[in-house]
Amino acid sequence: MSHPLEELRASALTEIADAADEQTLEAARVRYLGRSGSIAVWGEQMKTLSKEERPVVGKLLNEVRNAVTASIAETGERLRAAKEAGALANIDVTLPGAPAEIGGLHPLTQMLDRAISIFRRMGFALAEGPDVETEWYCFDALNTAPDHPARNEQDTFYLPDGRLLRTHTSTVQIRTMLSAPPPIRVIAPGGAYRRDEVDATHSAQFHQIEGLYVDEKVSVADLKGTIEFFLRELLGANTEIRFRPHYFPFTEPSFEFDVRSRAIKGGKWLELAGCGMVHPAVLEEVNRARGDDAYDPEKYTGFAFGMGMDRLAMLMFDIPDIRYFAQNDLRFLRQFA
Ligand code: PHE
Repeated sequence: MSHPLEELRASALTEIADAADEQTLEAARVRYLGRSGSIAVWGEQMKTLSKEERPVVGKLLNEVRNAVTASIAETGERLRAAKEAGALANIDVTLPGAPAEIGGLHPLTQMLDRAISIFRRMGFALAEGPDVETEWYCFDALNTAPDHPARNEQDTFYLPDGRLLRTHTSTVQIRTMLSAPPPIRVIAPGGAYRRDEVDATHSAQFHQIEGLYVDEKVSVADLKGTIEFFLRELLGANTEIRFRPHYFPFTEPSFEFDVRSRAIKGGKWLELAGCGMVHPAVLEEVNRARGDDAYDPEKYTGFAFGMGMDRLAMLMFDIPDIRYFAQNDLRFLRQFA
Protein backbone atom coordinates (compact mmCIF):
# COMPACT_ATOMS: atom_id res chain seq x y z
CA MET A 1 0.00 0.00 0.00
CA SER A 2 1.31 3.44 -0.85
CA HIS A 3 2.08 6.00 1.81
CA PRO A 4 -0.79 8.43 2.56
CA LEU A 5 1.51 11.26 1.45
CA GLU A 6 1.71 9.69 -1.99
CA GLU A 7 -2.05 9.58 -2.13
CA LEU A 8 -2.17 13.22 -1.08
CA ARG A 9 0.23 14.08 -3.89
CA ALA A 10 -1.81 12.18 -6.47
CA SER A 11 -5.11 13.83 -5.55
CA ALA A 12 -3.53 17.29 -5.21
CA LEU A 13 -1.92 17.10 -8.63
CA THR A 14 -5.16 15.96 -10.27
CA GLU A 15 -7.15 18.69 -8.56
CA ILE A 16 -4.64 21.37 -9.55
CA ALA A 17 -4.44 20.20 -13.14
CA ASP A 18 -8.23 20.24 -13.34
CA ALA A 19 -8.63 23.78 -11.96
CA ALA A 20 -10.70 25.68 -14.52
CA ASP A 21 -9.94 29.18 -13.30
CA GLU A 22 -7.63 31.17 -11.05
CA GLN A 23 -10.01 31.19 -8.05
CA THR A 24 -10.28 27.38 -7.99
CA LEU A 25 -6.51 27.13 -8.26
CA GLU A 26 -6.05 29.61 -5.41
CA ALA A 27 -8.45 27.59 -3.23
CA ALA A 28 -6.41 24.44 -3.93
CA ARG A 29 -3.19 26.26 -3.10
CA VAL A 30 -4.59 27.35 0.27
CA ARG A 31 -5.88 23.85 0.98
CA TYR A 32 -2.51 22.16 0.32
CA LEU A 33 0.18 24.77 0.87
CA GLY A 34 -1.59 27.22 3.18
CA ARG A 35 -0.53 27.69 6.77
CA SER A 36 -3.02 25.13 8.03
CA GLY A 37 -3.09 23.18 4.76
CA SER A 38 -2.52 19.43 4.53
CA ILE A 39 1.17 19.67 3.83
CA ALA A 40 1.73 21.93 6.83
CA VAL A 41 -0.22 19.52 9.00
CA TRP A 42 2.08 16.70 7.87
CA GLY A 43 5.04 18.86 8.75
CA GLU A 44 3.63 19.26 12.26
CA GLN A 45 3.23 15.50 12.60
CA MET A 46 6.87 14.82 11.79
CA LYS A 47 7.84 15.16 15.44
CA THR A 48 5.53 12.31 16.44
CA LEU A 49 7.39 9.88 14.15
CA SER A 50 10.13 7.49 15.20
CA LYS A 51 13.79 8.24 14.53
CA GLU A 52 13.86 5.69 11.71
CA GLU A 53 10.71 6.92 9.98
CA ARG A 54 11.48 10.65 10.20
CA PRO A 55 14.10 10.98 7.40
CA VAL A 56 12.14 8.81 5.02
CA VAL A 57 8.84 10.63 5.52
CA GLY A 58 10.64 13.96 5.64
CA LYS A 59 12.17 13.34 2.25
CA LEU A 60 8.81 12.27 0.82
CA LEU A 61 7.10 15.33 2.31
CA ASN A 62 9.64 17.60 0.62
CA GLU A 63 9.06 15.91 -2.71
CA VAL A 64 5.31 16.30 -2.34
CA ARG A 65 5.62 19.98 -1.39
CA ASN A 66 7.88 20.67 -4.37
CA ALA A 67 5.66 18.81 -6.80
CA VAL A 68 2.51 20.63 -5.60
CA THR A 69 4.25 24.02 -5.68
CA ALA A 70 5.56 23.47 -9.21
CA SER A 71 2.21 22.23 -10.43
CA ILE A 72 0.40 25.28 -9.02
CA ALA A 73 2.87 27.64 -10.70
CA GLU A 74 2.56 25.85 -14.00
CA THR A 75 -1.24 25.73 -13.95
CA GLY A 76 -1.40 29.39 -12.90
CA GLU A 77 0.77 30.32 -15.86
CA ARG A 78 -1.45 28.31 -18.21
CA LEU A 79 -4.67 29.88 -16.85
CA ARG A 80 -3.29 33.41 -17.17
CA ALA A 81 -2.16 32.80 -20.73
CA ALA A 82 -5.57 31.38 -21.64
CA LYS A 83 -7.31 34.37 -20.10
CA GLU A 84 -5.15 36.80 -22.04
CA ALA A 85 -5.69 34.94 -25.28
CA GLY A 86 -9.45 35.09 -24.62
CA ALA A 87 -9.32 38.83 -24.05
CA LEU A 88 -7.39 39.38 -27.27
CA ALA A 89 -9.59 37.01 -29.29
CA ASN A 90 -12.11 39.73 -30.15
CA ILE A 91 -9.56 42.33 -31.18
CA ASP A 92 -9.04 42.83 -34.87
CA VAL A 93 -5.40 43.76 -35.04
CA THR A 94 -5.77 44.74 -38.68
CA LEU A 95 -8.11 47.66 -37.83
CA PRO A 96 -6.47 51.10 -38.14
CA GLY A 97 -5.63 52.61 -34.75
CA ALA A 98 -7.33 55.66 -33.27
CA PRO A 99 -5.06 58.57 -34.16
CA ALA A 100 -3.55 60.31 -31.12
CA GLU A 101 -4.51 63.98 -30.83
CA ILE A 102 -1.24 65.88 -30.75
CA GLY A 103 -1.63 69.40 -29.48
CA GLY A 104 0.26 72.40 -30.78
CA LEU A 105 1.54 75.57 -29.18
CA HIS A 106 -0.53 78.75 -29.38
CA PRO A 107 1.06 81.26 -31.79
CA LEU A 108 1.66 83.70 -28.94
CA THR A 109 3.36 80.97 -26.91
CA GLN A 110 5.56 80.21 -29.91
CA MET A 111 6.51 83.90 -30.14
CA LEU A 112 7.21 84.11 -26.42
CA ASP A 113 9.31 80.93 -26.49
CA ARG A 114 11.46 82.29 -29.29
CA ALA A 115 11.87 85.64 -27.56
CA ILE A 116 12.69 84.01 -24.22
CA SER A 117 15.38 81.79 -25.73
CA ILE A 118 17.14 84.80 -27.28
CA PHE A 119 17.13 86.72 -23.99
CA ARG A 120 18.34 83.64 -22.13
CA ARG A 121 21.37 83.52 -24.38
CA MET A 122 22.12 87.10 -23.29
CA GLY A 123 21.99 86.03 -19.65
CA PHE A 124 18.47 87.16 -18.75
CA ALA A 125 16.67 84.98 -16.21
CA LEU A 126 12.90 84.47 -16.18
CA ALA A 127 10.86 86.32 -13.58
CA GLU A 128 7.14 86.37 -12.95
CA GLY A 129 4.42 88.03 -10.97
CA PRO A 130 0.66 87.72 -10.53
CA ASP A 131 -1.89 89.16 -12.97
CA VAL A 132 -3.93 90.48 -10.02
CA GLU A 133 -1.90 93.18 -8.34
CA THR A 134 -2.07 95.99 -5.83
CA GLU A 135 -1.99 99.63 -6.88
CA TRP A 136 1.36 99.93 -5.18
CA TYR A 137 3.12 97.43 -7.45
CA CYS A 138 1.36 98.71 -10.56
CA PHE A 139 1.65 102.44 -9.98
CA ASP A 140 3.04 103.86 -6.70
CA ALA A 141 6.30 101.90 -6.68
CA LEU A 142 6.71 102.84 -10.35
CA ASN A 143 6.74 106.56 -9.54
CA THR A 144 3.26 107.05 -10.98
CA ALA A 145 1.40 110.00 -9.44
CA PRO A 146 -1.92 109.40 -7.66
CA ASP A 147 -3.72 111.46 -10.31
CA HIS A 148 -2.04 109.79 -13.29
CA PRO A 149 -4.65 108.94 -15.96
CA ALA A 150 -3.52 105.28 -16.18
CA ARG A 151 -5.05 104.78 -12.72
CA ASN A 152 -8.44 105.85 -13.99
CA GLU A 153 -11.33 103.42 -13.61
CA GLN A 154 -12.03 104.01 -17.29
CA ASP A 155 -8.64 102.52 -18.16
CA THR A 156 -7.97 99.91 -15.49
CA PHE A 157 -9.93 96.90 -14.24
CA TYR A 158 -10.33 97.21 -10.46
CA LEU A 159 -11.49 94.41 -8.20
CA PRO A 160 -14.04 95.23 -5.49
CA ASP A 161 -11.27 94.92 -2.85
CA GLY A 162 -9.20 97.65 -4.54
CA ARG A 163 -6.73 95.36 -6.25
CA LEU A 164 -6.48 95.50 -10.04
CA LEU A 165 -5.52 93.56 -13.15
CA ARG A 166 -2.01 94.74 -13.92
CA THR A 167 -1.96 97.25 -16.77
CA HIS A 168 1.62 96.33 -17.65
CA THR A 169 4.25 93.77 -16.70
CA SER A 170 6.39 96.51 -15.12
CA THR A 171 5.01 95.27 -11.77
CA VAL A 172 7.53 92.43 -12.07
CA GLN A 173 10.40 94.96 -12.05
CA ILE A 174 9.38 95.88 -8.51
CA ARG A 175 8.79 92.29 -7.39
CA THR A 176 12.19 91.26 -8.71
CA MET A 177 14.06 94.10 -7.00
CA LEU A 178 12.31 93.38 -3.72
CA SER A 179 13.33 89.73 -3.88
CA ALA A 180 17.01 90.10 -4.73
CA PRO A 181 19.80 92.69 -4.61
CA PRO A 182 21.59 93.86 -7.78
CA PRO A 183 22.98 92.88 -10.20
CA ILE A 184 19.81 91.56 -11.80
CA ARG A 185 18.97 90.80 -15.38
CA VAL A 186 15.47 89.40 -15.91
CA ILE A 187 12.69 89.18 -18.43
CA ALA A 188 9.08 88.69 -17.44
CA PRO A 189 6.66 87.58 -20.13
CA GLY A 190 2.98 87.67 -19.26
CA GLY A 191 -0.52 89.05 -19.63
CA ALA A 192 -1.59 92.66 -19.08
CA TYR A 193 -5.06 94.20 -19.03
CA ARG A 194 -6.59 97.52 -20.03
CA ARG A 195 -10.16 98.67 -20.50
CA ASP A 196 -9.72 99.30 -24.19
CA GLU A 197 -12.58 99.37 -26.67
CA VAL A 198 -12.22 95.87 -28.16
CA ASP A 199 -11.76 95.70 -31.94
CA ALA A 200 -9.53 93.94 -34.49
CA THR A 201 -6.38 95.53 -33.07
CA HIS A 202 -7.35 96.13 -29.41
CA SER A 203 -8.03 93.53 -26.76
CA ALA A 204 -8.69 93.95 -23.04
CA GLN A 205 -5.98 91.36 -22.46
CA PHE A 206 -2.65 91.51 -24.22
CA HIS A 207 0.86 90.20 -23.69
CA GLN A 208 4.15 91.87 -22.90
CA ILE A 209 7.72 90.93 -22.28
CA GLU A 210 9.18 93.07 -19.56
CA GLY A 211 12.93 93.39 -19.25
CA LEU A 212 15.02 94.77 -16.40
CA TYR A 213 18.78 95.04 -16.06
CA VAL A 214 20.28 96.75 -13.02
CA ASP A 215 23.98 96.85 -12.31
CA GLU A 216 26.83 99.33 -11.97
CA LYS A 217 27.38 101.47 -15.05
CA VAL A 218 24.42 100.25 -17.13
CA SER A 219 23.84 102.83 -19.88
CA VAL A 220 21.50 103.72 -22.74
CA ALA A 221 24.08 102.09 -25.02
CA ASP A 222 23.45 98.76 -23.23
CA LEU A 223 19.72 99.24 -23.67
CA LYS A 224 20.04 99.93 -27.39
CA GLY A 225 22.52 97.13 -27.94
CA THR A 226 20.36 94.59 -26.12
CA ILE A 227 17.19 95.57 -28.00
CA GLU A 228 18.94 95.62 -31.37
CA PHE A 229 20.57 92.24 -30.85
CA PHE A 230 17.27 90.77 -29.70
CA LEU A 231 15.27 92.07 -32.66
CA ARG A 232 17.86 91.05 -35.24
CA GLU A 233 17.93 87.54 -33.80
CA LEU A 234 14.14 87.39 -33.81
CA LEU A 235 13.37 89.10 -37.11
CA GLY A 236 16.53 88.82 -39.16
CA ALA A 237 19.75 90.75 -39.68
CA ASN A 238 18.12 93.31 -41.99
CA THR A 239 15.74 94.52 -39.24
CA GLU A 240 15.68 98.31 -38.72
CA ILE A 241 15.11 99.75 -35.26
CA ARG A 242 14.14 103.33 -34.42
CA PHE A 243 14.19 104.89 -30.93
CA ARG A 244 11.97 107.91 -30.27
CA PRO A 245 11.96 110.04 -27.11
CA HIS A 246 8.91 109.36 -24.97
CA TYR A 247 7.66 109.73 -21.41
CA PHE A 248 7.13 107.10 -18.70
CA PRO A 249 7.03 107.99 -15.00
CA PHE A 250 9.34 105.10 -14.09
CA THR A 251 12.14 105.69 -16.61
CA GLU A 252 14.32 108.71 -17.39
CA PRO A 253 15.18 109.19 -20.17
CA SER A 254 12.35 107.25 -21.80
CA PHE A 255 11.88 106.01 -25.36
CA GLU A 256 9.59 104.09 -27.56
CA PHE A 257 11.04 101.94 -30.27
CA ASP A 258 9.69 100.81 -33.62
CA VAL A 259 10.80 98.02 -35.93
CA ARG A 260 10.67 97.49 -39.65
CA SER A 261 11.60 94.12 -41.09
CA ARG A 262 10.94 91.77 -43.94
CA ALA A 263 9.63 89.29 -41.36
CA ILE A 264 6.83 91.76 -40.56
CA LYS A 265 3.96 91.93 -43.02
CA GLY A 266 3.27 95.25 -44.72
CA GLY A 267 6.75 96.75 -44.62
CA LYS A 268 5.59 99.49 -42.23
CA TRP A 269 7.16 100.64 -38.95
CA LEU A 270 5.62 98.75 -36.02
CA GLU A 271 5.54 100.49 -32.65
CA LEU A 272 6.78 97.73 -30.41
CA ALA A 273 7.76 98.86 -26.94
CA GLY A 274 8.40 101.43 -24.28
CA CYS A 275 11.76 101.54 -22.56
CA GLY A 276 14.22 103.72 -20.73
CA MET A 277 16.66 104.04 -17.86
CA VAL A 278 15.16 103.08 -14.50
CA HIS A 279 14.14 106.27 -12.69
CA PRO A 280 16.12 106.88 -9.45
CA ALA A 281 12.81 107.44 -7.67
CA VAL A 282 11.90 103.80 -8.42
CA LEU A 283 15.18 102.57 -6.90
CA GLU A 284 14.57 104.75 -3.85
CA GLU A 285 11.07 103.40 -3.34
CA VAL A 286 12.40 99.85 -3.69
CA ASN A 287 15.04 100.58 -1.03
CA ARG A 288 12.37 102.02 1.26
CA ALA A 289 10.22 98.88 0.84
CA ARG A 290 13.24 96.58 1.29
CA GLY A 291 14.43 98.52 4.31
CA ASP A 292 18.00 98.68 3.03
CA ASP A 293 20.16 100.54 0.54
CA ALA A 294 20.73 97.68 -1.91
CA TYR A 295 19.58 99.72 -4.90
CA ASP A 296 21.63 102.82 -4.13
CA PRO A 297 20.85 105.15 -7.09
CA GLU A 298 24.32 106.69 -6.74
CA LYS A 299 25.89 103.32 -7.41
CA TYR A 300 23.44 101.48 -9.64
CA THR A 301 21.70 102.28 -12.88
CA GLY A 302 19.48 100.12 -15.01
CA PHE A 303 17.37 99.87 -18.08
CA ALA A 304 13.87 98.50 -18.50
CA PHE A 305 11.61 97.79 -21.41
CA GLY A 306 8.09 96.50 -21.98
CA MET A 307 7.38 94.98 -25.37
CA GLY A 308 3.94 94.22 -26.77
CA MET A 309 3.84 90.72 -28.23
CA ASP A 310 0.35 90.53 -29.75
CA ARG A 311 0.79 92.99 -32.63
CA LEU A 312 4.18 91.50 -33.41
CA ALA A 313 2.74 87.96 -33.53
CA MET A 314 -0.15 89.21 -35.69
CA LEU A 315 2.22 90.70 -38.23
CA MET A 316 4.63 87.78 -38.22
CA PHE A 317 1.92 85.13 -38.59
CA ASP A 318 -0.33 87.29 -40.76
CA ILE A 319 -3.24 87.23 -38.30
CA PRO A 320 -5.85 89.89 -39.15
CA ASP A 321 -7.71 90.13 -35.83
CA ILE A 322 -6.30 90.17 -32.28
CA ARG A 323 -9.49 88.58 -30.93
CA TYR A 324 -8.59 85.27 -32.58
CA PHE A 325 -5.87 84.77 -29.98
CA ALA A 326 -8.38 84.31 -27.18
CA GLN A 327 -11.35 82.69 -28.92
CA ASN A 328 -10.03 79.15 -28.60
CA ASP A 329 -11.20 78.23 -32.10
CA LEU A 330 -9.37 75.09 -33.23
CA ARG A 331 -9.75 76.05 -36.90
CA PHE A 332 -7.57 79.08 -36.11
CA LEU A 333 -5.17 77.40 -33.70
CA ARG A 334 -4.49 74.32 -35.89
CA GLN A 335 -2.92 76.54 -38.55
CA PHE A 336 0.02 77.17 -36.21
CA ALA A 337 0.41 73.71 -34.70
N1 PHE B 1 5.12 99.57 -18.96
C1 PHE B 1 5.20 100.38 -20.16
C2 PHE B 1 3.89 100.16 -20.97
O1 PHE B 1 3.22 99.18 -20.76
C3 PHE B 1 6.37 100.03 -21.01
C4 PHE B 1 7.67 100.27 -20.36
C5 PHE B 1 8.29 99.25 -19.64
C6 PHE B 1 8.30 101.50 -20.45
C7 PHE B 1 9.53 99.49 -19.05
C8 PHE B 1 9.52 101.75 -19.86
C9 PHE B 1 10.13 100.72 -19.16
O2 PHE B 1 3.55 100.94 -21.81
